[in-house]
Amino acid sequence: MGHSVLLLPGDGIGPEVVAQARRVLECVAALHGLTIELDEANLGGVAIDREGAAYPESTRVKAREADALLLGAVGGPRWDALPAGDRPERGLLAIRADLDLFANLRPAMLFPQLANASSLKPELVAGLDILIVRELTGGIYFGEPRGIRTLENGEREGFNTYVYRESEIERIARLAFELASKRDGRVTSVDKANVLEVTQLWRDVVSQTAQAYPEVMLEHLYVDNAAMQLVRAPKQFDVLVTGNIFGDILSDTAAMLTGSIGMLPSASLNARSCGLYEPVHGSAPDIAGQDCANPLATILSVAMLLRYSLNAGDAANAVEQAVSRVLQQGYRTADIAAQGEAVVGTEAMGSAVLSALEQPQDVNA
Ligand code: IPM
Ligand code: MG
Repeated sequence: MGHSVLLLPGDGIGPEVVAQARRVLECVAALHGLTIELDEANLGGVAIDREGAAYPESTRVKAREADALLLGAVGGPRWDALPAGDRPERGLLAIRADLDLFANLRPAMLFPQLANASSLKPELVAGLDILIVRELTGGIYFGEPRGIRTLENGEREGFNTYVYRESEIERIARLAFELASKRDGRVTSVDKANVLEVTQLWRDVVSQTAQAYPEVMLEHLYVDNAAMQLVRAPKQFDVLVTGNIFGDILSDTAAMLTGSIGMLPSASLNARSCGLYEPVHGSAPDIAGQDCANPLATILSVAMLLRYSLNAGDAANAVEQAVSRVLQQGYRTADIAAQGEAVVGTEAMGSAVLSALEQPQDVNA
């Protein structure tokens, strides 16, 4: 049976890294006998420029039909002057909400070849393997009312609403426990239950949900402590589950532990296991169009896409092994190169992954 994958190259370095990921997807599909139909659509700033909206109707129609979506990145200084509601980032939030992609999986894994790229001491991060499970369609990102209003005295006041329903907390907690039971069996739930009622409810519901997973160990941490622990002793964590805004912040911290945000993939899933896959990094407009961005996070997102949406675990493993091998062979883009190491560009890195895929049994690997 064929699969449909929608590519959303987006802005900045997005098109460059998606182009390499596309080559990898086509190659691995051919090698593993998968029929994948690829299509492309606009999201973000490019969609604003071409179609007048960050998540235009034409993209919505294609997105709803696809089995999986692969996104580059959205946003850039070109659209910074737009009001918050019209910015490219709103396109990303809109597609997450439209497809009900409530579960954001952000693994922070350290490739042993890159232990020196971390800003932490190698012994603190060697073997690091954390999975952040971030709730993605609720919390303060989507809560109503929201806005900026003018008070009677003429002063402006900004406001947002931090809100979670029990059912929203329960479905993300359940997924975190399921994933932990296939990993090291530990879940850390992150909240601010000492101050915010909404996260007091979060803590209650997560604890309740845990009762169905006696094999998984649950602990609760306040978000300030979690942030500290992540840079003090990150290997203590297995699965971290948290709400939208804490997950946004902690996943960037976790990403940096691995040395390069240019290496980290992510998956945003709904209940039908349709998913939007994207690198954790942003659109990096400062280096766009220069063939120097690291395509590996997007290529590793292809592996997650194969695993979670196309049910093609072998093909996913093949992509991950190919990435590991090019690192072993010494290929480095600028963001992961140690001082004095030779550097390759975006396209050359993509080509190296293709070669590794095509010659998996290369004895020099
Ligand atoms: C992320 C990004 C987005 C978010 C922005 C671009 C809206 O930072 O995916 O982490 O805050 O969710
Ligand atoms: Mg973020």
